[in-house]
Amino acid sequence: MNIEIVENYDEMSKLAAEIVEKQVVKNPRSILGLATGSTPMGLYSNMIEGFKNRGISYKQVRTINLDEYLGLNRNHPNSYHSFMHENLFKHLDIQMRNTYLPEGQAASVDEECMRYEALLDRIGPVHLQILGMGTNGHIGFNEPGTPEDSLTHCIELDESTRNSNARFFDSLDEVPTHAITMGIESILKSDKILLLVSGKEKAQAVKMLMEEPISEDFPASFLWKHEDVTFIVDQDAYHLVE
Ligand code: F6R
Repeated sequence: MNIEIVENYDEMSKLAAEIVEKQVVKNPRSILGLATGSTPMGLYSNMIEGFKNRGISYKQVRTINLDEYLGLNRNHPNSYHSFMHENLFKHLDIQMRNTYLPEGQAASVDEECMRYEALLDRIGPVHLQILGMGTNGHIGFNEPGTPEDSLTHCIELDESTRNSNARFFDSLDEVPTHAITMGIESILKSDKILLLVSGKEKAQAVKMLMEEPISEDFPASFLWKHEDVTFIVDQDAYHLVE
């Protein structure tokens, strides 16, 4: 794991955008794996700025997202479809037909999971996968206890995850209880992984990642098994590491 400790969230976002842009310039037909949540917002702002002011084009890029809430219509303001559209896609020259997320209202969840994994295998491997990390060590929505050989599947969200994501909803009751997520194995199929972590509330999780053995109890630890992970972390998130 290549570890880059940076001053703060803005520095993390800027460095992450440089890595994404380098990838897209090198291969304009790149496949990017994308995440939602607070962590990549700054990265996405920098990518939008790069498109508008530095001529970085996403016209031929394809994107595949990690996860989607189960039960939310794609037009729901809190769906990850909406998140990606509002915070990234609508600001770039990316073609919407080249953007993929799991379908949260599929008639059969099992079939949707199989379809999504097959899609990943068909268009992949992802050249560069962006990841955030939950305070419990989840990546995607692979909560503690998810096996290393997991593919795209439906998962019951931990209470801690629902509580943390409640900030995007009017109340905790509205936060879905389940999600469809790429599995650990799906994520590890990527050529390169960019893990972004920022803020004091992630400091304990970063310490676990750096100091504890690889285990299902802390899903992000499986990233140690991948040969090309860049971990950009800010000082607030890194400060507990011995
Ligand atoms: C989101 C995702 C999650 C988040 C994680 C951190 O698509 O897969 O693993 O990356 O929950 O969320 P934030 O960035 O909101 O702290």
